[in-house]
Amino acid sequence: MHNNRIGVLISGGGTNLQALIDKAEANYFNASVEIVISNCKDAYGLQRAKTHGIKTEVVDKRQFESEAEFNKAMIEILKNNAVHLVVLAGFLSILSREFVNTFKNQILNIHPALIPSFCGKGFYGKRVHQAALDYGVKITGATVHFVDAGTDTGPIVLQKAIEIDNNDDADSLQKKVLKLEHQLLPLAVKLFFENKLQIIETNRKRTKVKISE
Ligand code: GRF
Repeated sequence: MHNNRIGVLISGGGTNLQALIDKAEANYFNASVEIVISNCKDAYGLQRAKTHGIKTEVVDKRQFESEAEFNKAMIEILKNNAVHLVVLAGFLSILSREFVNTFKNQILNIHPALIPSFCGKGFYGKRVHQAALDYGVKITGATVHFVDAGTDTGPIVLQKAIEIDNNDDADSLQKKVLKLEHQLLPLAVKLFFENKLQIIETNRKRTKVKISE
């Protein structure tokens, strides 16, 4: 058994969730996926979790009176499962300030671009890759970051880049970037549980992550 417990939030297919499950089973990091929460009952990632005997919960925003109540429901599930780390793996809803404060410096998100490019409100799924293509950038990539109260604004943990080819479209880019994501996210989780991620303040009111050797 692993000592550390991860809660994963998803909204969709869950290939990043799968990468985490596989790495946990291979003992790549000292943690297990304890609970998977989806805000969408049809998310295929729920099936992936069930196949591996992982608990699942659906928390549908529409069943709550407010964003705050929706977030409280997720906080309660995560607390009941005593998670040490929350991973957003394709979770398409913004977390409340209360949620972020409850799990301060304990929430990781994966974003399919090189933050601070092509991120923030409205940049999700293939839109991110289409925006990179439309802009004409020659490289893109994936970013893992801690989650703060903003959208894709938290301190960056890991990034990896790939080149964009002339014949790439949003589909091909998404496939290439997902391959990076499946490496980066488990690596960030590993570093987190090895206590190698140190969040430090900079003089510009920003925080950044120093990775220790
Ligand atoms: C990924 O591209 C991730 O970066 C973004 O949403 C997508 C989720 O993909 N946040 P999957 O559900 O893990 O396959």
